[in-house]
Amino acid sequence: MHGIREAVSRFIELLRASRYVVAFTGAGISAESGIPTFRGRGGLWEKYDPAELATPQAFERDPVRVWEWYRMRMEVIYEAKPNSAHLVLARMERAGLLKAIITQNVDGLHQKAGASRIIELHGNIWRVRCTNPACGYKGALEKPPSIVPPRCPRCGSLLRPDVVWFGEPLPRHAWREAVEEAAKADLIIVVGTSGVVQPAASIPLITKSRGGRLVEVNPEETSYTGIADLYVASGAAEFFRVLGEALGML
Ligand code: OAD
Ligand code: ZN
Repeated sequence: MHGIREAVSRFIELLRASRYVVAFTGAGISAESGIPTFRGRGGLWEKYDPAELATPQAFERDPVRVWEWYRMRMEVIYEAKPNSAHLVLARMERAGLLKAIITQNVDGLHQKAGASRIIELHGNIWRVRCTNPACGYKGALEKPPSIVPPRCPRCGSLLRPDVVWFGEPLPRHAWREAVEEAAKADLIIVVGTSGVVQPAASIPLITKSRGGRLVEVNPEETSYTGIADLYVASGAAEFFRVLGEALGML
């Protein structure tokens, strides 16, 4: 594929030939909003050990340390603005060109961009829930907590971020919806994901296995690249900026 414009026109052809389009996004879509990815150059897992920060065992051992790390990420996310990839996807949804956004991200930038049909497979960093199963409190934070660990307003137990940690199952309802949407789709746009964290990573394969098409936008090749009907080797913000201009959405 030579050049972003050629990729955009090929993409628009695929879009016009499709009747049910969904997007599947990962950390890379928010990279140009200033939120670090997990893997790859400058990724969080280069600097931090997921076993010490993103597992239920880590939280049991040292909730303050885990919360400090989440607070640091919340501070970055709090300041972050959606980029043209989030914005164009949201506008495509408004225009009826996109049915759903299935995301592995917890940053809420698809919401900030104005999208409405968002399926969050790994939770949301702004939501919290009580660790006391007898309580069941669920709430949301509007900004990073000033005191960590935050406590449940109902029972005083520890609150935890309502995100999926390694070794935990995905939220059942979100997973079911994602599978349904991927199965209905005849085109899935895969943006900024390394495709290594299961079961989320298998979502695009559902669309493919049912005869749908797959477009990938990622500056690096991944396990999806070989099965992609169109691979765009570009940062998400740039591709969607050119696409948004071509569609008259920016
Ligand atoms: P990763 O950090 O694994 O992968 C990020 C991907 O984004 C890589 O393939 C990069 O090449 C790509 N990328 C980097 N910059 C980009 C840009 N400007 N535009 C587009 N793509 C870019 O992120 P995920 O695949 O989302 O899980 O990771 C999956 C899960 O692993 C996360 O949800 C999180 C993590 O551990 C949990 O916390 C459960
Ligand atoms: Zn409680």
